[in-house]
Amino acid sequence: MRVGILGSGRMGGKLGTLFARAGHEVVFSYARSRAKLERLAREARHGARAGTPREAAQDADALLLAVHWSRLGDVLKQAGDLSGKVILSCSLPMNASDTALVVARTSSGAEALARRIPKARVVSAFNTVPSEVLFDVFEARRRSKRPSLVFCGDDRRAKKVAVQLIRDVGFEPVDAGPLRIARYTEPFALLVAQLAYEGSGGPELAYRFERFEA
Ligand SMILES: NC(=O)c1ccc[n+]([C@@H]2O[C@H](COP(=O)([O-])OP(=O)(O)OC[C@H]3O[C@@H](n4cnc5c(N)ncnc54)[C@H](OP(=O)(O)O)[C@@H]3O)[C@@H](O)[C@H]2O)c1
Repeated sequence: MRVGILGSGRMGGKLGTLFARAGHEVVFSYARSRAKLERLAREARHGARAGTPREAAQDADALLLAVHWSRLGDVLKQAGDLSGKVILSCSLPMNASDTALVVARTSSGAEALARRIPKARVVSAFNTVPSEVLFDVFEARRRSKRPSLVFCGDDRRAKKVAVQLIRDVGFEPVDAGPLRIARYTEPFALLVAQLAYEGSGGPELAYRFERFEA
């Protein structure tokens, strides 16, 4: 697939690199310097390149949105018309000091994003995992027990794309249901971050779901 990265920081830089290693055609965009995007593309190899958000969005089969919530308006403006595009968003609706969700309980960042670009196909994914574990998960992807990764969305086709990209990174995708379920996964992502960075688990913390047997 052609995958455009909107926001090439900790999440976008790493996920874009892993998508490229998994065989996708990646365009890194949206960092404070063009040199950083070019370095990411060089290091990711496999034909990855640097571009503008508009170039990343053009012809993309999927876009990863990985910016701070405060940058959302700017990056969407630069990306241009996203009608029909599959957007995997790992962006959490955090306030400027990263201490609280600014959208929660009766809505979610993912739903707010979908309302903002009503013709796009939004999936909420990858926000429940600390960026530090991504390379290790990819390295271990051939093991039989993969860590689970929850995602949610309303569009069937977009969810199929998400399943493939989640598997390519090395996780087992867990479909949590419609996009409104992001009301629960986004606060859950903060719990994971709290445990990973401030608890004793460390960023390697991952989680698994066991099916309850009847
Ligand atoms: N990090 C995690 O482990 C994690 C986990 C789950 C969810 N999330 C969510 O994922 C999203 C991205 O997080 P992140 O940790 O990847 O953030 P980040 O490292 O700060 O990356 C954000 C990207 O946006 C770019 N950017 C910021 N201001 C810009 C500007 N004025 N012009 C152009 N580019 C600009 C940054 O550029 P530079 O590269 O030049 O800094 C960077 O590439 C957030 O919504 C966060 O809540 C993060």
